[in-house]
Amino acid sequence: MTMENIESVLQESRVFPPPADFAKTAHINSMDDYRALHRRSLDDPFGFWGEVASELEWFKPWREVLDESEKPFFKWFSGGKLNICHNAVDRHARGSMANKAAIVWEGEPGDERVLTYRDLHREVQRFANVLKSLGVGKGDSVALYLPMIPELAIAVLACARIGAVHSVIFAGFSADSVRDRVQDASSKIVITGDGGWRRGKVLELKSIVDEGVADCPSVEHVLVVRRDPFTEGFPCSMQEGRDVWYHERAKTVSPHCPCEEMDAEDLLFLLYTSGSTGKPKGIMHTVGGYSVHTYLTAKYIFDLRPKDVYWCTADVGWITGHSYIVYGPLQNGATVVMYEGAPNAPDPGRFWELIDKHRVTIFYTAPTAIRAFMKWGDEWVEKADLSTLRLLGSVGEPINPEAWMWYHEKIGKGRCPIVDTWWQTETGGILLSPLPGVTPTKPGSATLPFFGVDAAILDAEGNETPSGLLAIRRPWPGILRGIWGDPERFKQTYWCNWEGRYYFPGDGARRDDDGYFWVVGRVDDVVNVSGHRIGTAELESVFVEHPQVAESAVIGVPHEIKGQGLVAFVLLRGTDSTGSDTLRSELNDLVSKRIGKFAKPEKIIFSADLPKTRSGKIMRRLLRDIATGQSLGNVTTLADPSVIESLKTKYTD
Ligand code: WTA
Repeated sequence: MTMENIESVLQESRVFPPPADFAKTAHINSMDDYRALHRRSLDDPFGFWGEVASELEWFKPWREVLDESEKPFFKWFSGGKLNICHNAVDRHARGSMANKAAIVWEGEPGDERVLTYRDLHREVQRFANVLKSLGVGKGDSVALYLPMIPELAIAVLACARIGAVHSVIFAGFSADSVRDRVQDASSKIVITGDGGWRRGKVLELKSIVDEGVADCPSVEHVLVVRRDPFTEGFPCSMQEGRDVWYHERAKTVSPHCPCEEMDAEDLLFLLYTSGSTGKPKGIMHTVGGYSVHTYLTAKYIFDLRPKDVYWCTADVGWITGHSYIVYGPLQNGATVVMYEGAPNAPDPGRFWELIDKHRVTIFYTAPTAIRAFMKWGDEWVEKADLSTLRLLGSVGEPINPEAWMWYHEKIGKGRCPIVDTWWQTETGGILLSPLPGVTPTKPGSATLPFFGVDAAILDAEGNETPSGLLAIRRPWPGILRGIWGDPERFKQTYWCNWEGRYYFPGDGARRDDDGYFWVVGRVDDVVNVSGHRIGTAELESVFVEHPQVAESAVIGVPHEIKGQGLVAFVLLRGTDSTGSDTLRSELNDLVSKRIGKFAKPEKIIFSADLPKTRSGKIMRRLLRDIATGQSLGNVTTLADPSVIESLKTKYTD
């Protein structure tokens, strides 16, 4: 966790009560109600979650709300049968909501598509039948590598509909990352596109997939979606027998496809995320608990109302897009805005122009974007009419109070509550957040636990402490069910502390006198760059692949816009310790090739040595101190203290 964050939140004492207007109509609007319902959700979790689950439609009711007999492999709603696609699409596509907009999509060049719930229902069924025609069935793994076009949401829902397990790969990942994920999940089909727009450039997804799947024997077909169904699209080379154009196959299939009846504990999706080893882990989420958790959190935290126009700026390639573009809002019958491109294309006013144009009422984004907008200047904001906004959200990393205040004043005009939502890929949905009609907010705090969430700050022994490790003391419905293919790693990563009694998310936090949580950042070797999780070990293993590199240590450092940036200390083989710009760019290229451009470090420092203990362990703490200009802590355990001075000089050069 960074000192800067800790210091800025320690000084924060401003409190913003929920605006009276908002509270008047909110689903939950008094602190007493929140406290009573929270208490009940902990005292009677079966009753509480059972009632919530009854708001969704089930093909068969569950036998048992929660089964803890194989802790930490929890089961929710055992025996129940449902389909999340039915709850997100079908039940709204019949009756009075059929003609309501489900997805309002805008491409980076300004093209638009609107799909009503009826349209979405039709498109999802067609997509599902195309998948079936390619031999995809219940339990099969399907990888998706698509731009932010409606077909990404449609394909995700189509997988869910037929019980195929989707594994969405963010379209910024490299061919090597595609290969690793497709191999790990043994995906049978990869769905990609002919292209997508990002900052005026076309993403060449198909050729990345071609390279990625060359080594993936599990892949039977690559299904290629045209970004623009109304034109000839971008040229792609197609491999005879393996590659199939979606628009051609779609003409040949039936428009009707019933929902598969899924067991509540059947796998819904895998989503790969970084951890503290070099290998990303496939986080497993199952149908029942995830449906209930995303449904309820979206309803209460975004206070969704029938007329809302809701926009979450995340990519569906990350968990935020899964839970709060697709599943959460659609299960609530919301109108969801989806935008393909970059926030500053063609200019830094794009987001505000979209809010103005589509009359967005709820806006959910990341602190890194907010900080970039602050830097680009208020004039871009002032051009747009933001008067439709009624609620703002933040996710992905700690929001610094300065960014919070800017968001509150410039975007919310002082009248919109801000929900700072803390959660993770592993938690499936939000666990800590204000309720917008209830909770007085403090800039930088995710405030209080959501219903059913028993959060605490603990020391290593499991005692409550004002500042320490965040812990979740009982299971919630959206909890991950495991790491694909690696149950041991699942136990070691999340159940390693406190004798396996509580879930350990890997974050450090503080709790104030009002019981508010202030999550300050990761305490493990995961760095959060612009809200993207990157394991330092992942980069280190990339660097050592280079023949000139003997060893490396990668650390996270505070970054003005990205929240955190990466700095790599690289030890070269032989006598050379100076490196060169050529070597630096080779190492950067290697990172782009193995992971993706977004994982490139801010700085690469070549060195003759690294600070190590006498037993040979690299002391990352000292590297962090050097990078942040902190006075160095205890260096007596160092094998060779002179290393520090030379690194300090190199760092500041
Ligand atoms: C961090 C993103 C502080 C945290 C949904 C967590 C946050 C990691 C917040 C998960 C927040 C996310 N305040 N920190 N509101 N939201 N984080 O899996 O360190 O991409 O462990 O999920 O982001 O990142 P992930």
